[in-house]
Amino acid sequence: MITLGIETSCDETSFAVVRDGREVLSNVVYSSLDEHRRFGGVVPEIASRAHLETGLSVLDASLKKAGLGLEDIDLVAVTRGPGLMGSLLVGLAAAKALSWALGRPLVGVDHVIAHLYVGLIEDGDLRFPFLGLVVSGGHTLLVRMDGASNFKILGSTIDDAAGEAFDKVAKILGLGYPGGPEIDRLGRGQDAGRFYFTRPFLSKHSLDFSFSGLKTAVYLAVEKLKKAGRVSPSAKRQVAAAFQESVCEVLVKKSVDAARREGLKSLVVGGGVAANSRLRLLLAAAARREGIRLVFPSAALCQDNAAMIAALGAALHREGSRDSAALEAYPDFLRHHRLEHKTMAYRRSSKQPARFH
Ligand code: KG4
Ligand code: ZN
Repeated sequence: MITLGIETSCDETSFAVVRDGREVLSNVVYSSLDEHRRFGGVVPEIASRAHLETGLSVLDASLKKAGLGLEDIDLVAVTRGPGLMGSLLVGLAAAKALSWALGRPLVGVDHVIAHLYVGLIEDGDLRFPFLGLVVSGGHTLLVRMDGASNFKILGSTIDDAAGEAFDKVAKILGLGYPGGPEIDRLGRGQDAGRFYFTRPFLSKHSLDFSFSGLKTAVYLAVEKLKKAGRVSPSAKRQVAAAFQESVCEVLVKKSVDAARREGLKSLVVGGGVAANSRLRLLLAAAARREGIRLVFPSAALCQDNAAMIAALGAALHREGSRDSAALEAYPDFLRHHRLEHKTMAYRRSSKQPARFH
């Protein structure tokens, strides 16, 4: 069973060929990040144009690398949300056209859940249920994963996402975009204790996150340093380290709380911030203490990619999922799933529990 995966939700144009939902034959990613850098963030129009311009060559490259032709594709899987609407529509149009022209089924896939599903590609021994932590530029979520289409959102950010906080703090410190890797590099080996930023835990029982107050605290600390004429390179490094420590501690604490509460013994981390070296270190230590199996996907599968879309698409197809040319994109993860939850709970009989929460 050969699945072609298509991912165009943000600035990465990616096509991948995956056999039997697990074996990645090719995973080609083109990023238009360099075209966005001077604007300090992703420009939606530039991103969708880049998908249009590079899509076909990325598709060709992915087939060539897999040593297969279009006629070998059994299933087309595509990201339908969340993401930038213009970008999503380019991928959806390509997927619908390919599915129609090849006479092969089409399955729409959620990008965020795919970030977690990737754990099953990376770790052959991983089994459901497991806890997922998604930390990207747009999302910070704790999710209980019971199956490919069976998940429950345990907590999410009420304001900025973790990656967004890294990017905004990097801007405050005068660093480049994206800010996460810069702060990671700057904060490495620094004294994280010279500055202290509060840990936004919200209430004791909540698994939700909040990072916007932390960003303001960093802003105020940097302003104070500026007024005192003390913004030295070393002060900047220490502020970066202290901020990073606060974010990572909160992510680790909430993940451990969620795992204990749900009785889960495996944790998969996905999204761009999963590359953060301090988060990796702190989570690994906590996982050892708690006896939790920790899966950090490799860098290639942490970034946005179509292999994860193909893998989840193949699993959904196995469960009977089929989409038509009427498949629509959605920009917002929580809004989409909360609405879906209500509809599904209403539609299902009382014997069958609702799968989306
Ligand atoms: O998942 P991703 O590639 O794109 C989205 O779907 O958002 O995540 C991008 C985010 C950016 O905010 C970036 O600053 C952050 O991931 N990031 C990092 C690191 N590498 C990327 N944050 C902290 N430490 C890193 N090493
Ligand atoms: Zn992503």
